[in-house]
Parts: sequence; structure tokens; C-alpha cells
Amino acid sequence: MKGVVFTEFLEMVESKFGLEVVDTIIENSNLASEGIYTSVGTYDFNEMISLITNLSDEVKAPMGDLIYTFGLYLFNGLGTSHPEVIENYTNPINLLYAIEDHIHVHVKKLYPDAELPTFKILDKTETSLSMIYSSSRGLYRLAHGLIEKTFEHFNGEATISYELLKEDGTEVKFDIVQHG
Ligand code: HEM
Repeated sequence: MKGVVFTEFLEMVESKFGLEVVDTIIENSNLASEGIYTSVGTYDFNEMISLITNLSDEVKAPMGDLIYTFGLYLFNGLGTSHPEVIENYTNPINLLYAIEDHIHVHVKKLYPDAELPTFKILDKTETSLSMIYSSSRGLYRLAHGLIEKTFEHFNGEATISYELLKEDGTEVKFDIVQHG
């Protein structure tokens, strides 16, 4: 997993729970990287699982909710470090429609060894999108948060529902209907 995801994660933990919690989860997670990440570096995904598991224990919140909250936070982080990616889009549905064939393609040029999820579009209208998220990491709640924040970014509102096609969350169908 790319270091940019880890640095954004630890910044989120610090901003929401304080530096002490950052230190505690790094200490308790027994990380090969010792919790030191560079944005272009590549690190074992299990380090992220350990950090989130220990954060969940520390702040007494379900892992899924913490991963969703991180998705909300990560959108701005990625948009700040790569404004050229987001500013091409004028509405949320078109941005989400473009993840697979444009946004993550551009990301792969920036981070050649990035392991990105796939998004298969099932249906699209001006105000709705149905797509399948697939990834061996099962970070569908992260995708959920990123999708939610996309609407906020464009001052829009949407109903976002998802259905697990595989129990471990490695394949999830998202139905998105914009209403504001
Ligand atoms: C708003 C729409 C987006 C969604 C729903 C989305 C979804 C995701 C998800 C779920 C992951 C986690 C990896 C996995 O599940 O296997 C991911 C990874 C990533 N995404 Fe996106 N993404 C979006 C936009 C972006 C943008 C705008 C950027 C950059 C400007 C970006 C850059 C990345 C990077 C660098 C990774 C990490 C890959 C790795 O660690 O190997 N994404 N994305």
C-alpha cells in the first residue's frame, strides 16, 4: 500500500484523536516500518490493518466506521496533493464514473506500484450510478467515504447504498442516487 495512504491516515488520527493516540497505535502495532512512512514508499497492507485494529481498540469505535471516516478525510488529502486530478470534473457523478478509466489510471502513472481497486460500471444516468467495487483488500467502507465526500466537494447530496456481493467485502455493489 502506498505511503501516501499511511501518512494521510496518521494525520487523520492526529487531527481527530490527538498525537498520543497516534503514538499508542504505532507502539501497539509492531510495525516493520516503525510507523515512519514516505508518501511514495510502499508498505505492507497488514500494517494498515494493524493500525486500524489498534485504533478501533483504543477509541472504542467499529473498524468499518473508522475506515469510512478515513475515506471522508482521504478525499481532501488526495485532492490537495493531486489537484490536477479532481479539477477536471464539474460534477460528482462524472468524477465517480471516471475513477476506473481516468483517475486511477493517472494514479498508476504517479505511483507505478500502486495496487488499486477496480470499479465496474453497471449503469449510469445524469443523476445516478451503479458500480461494482472489487479489491482483495476489501476496503469498501473507504470507497464509501470517498464517494460520500465527492458529493460534498461539489455541494451535492446523494443516497449511497451498497450490497456485499462477497461476504469478505472484496466485491461490493454501490448504488448512488444524487438528489441535491
Ligand atoms: C472519489 C473517488 C475515489 C474512490 C471511490 C477511490 C477508491 C479507492 C479505494 C477504495 C482505494 C483502496 C485500495 C483498495 O481498495 O484496494 C484506493 C486507493 C488509492 N486511490 Fe483511489 N479513489 C478515488 C479517487 C482517488 C483520487 C482522486 C486519487 C488521487 C488523486 C486516488 C488515489 C489513490 C491511491 C494513491 C490509492 C492507494 C493505492 C495503493 O496503496 O497501492 N484515488 N482508491
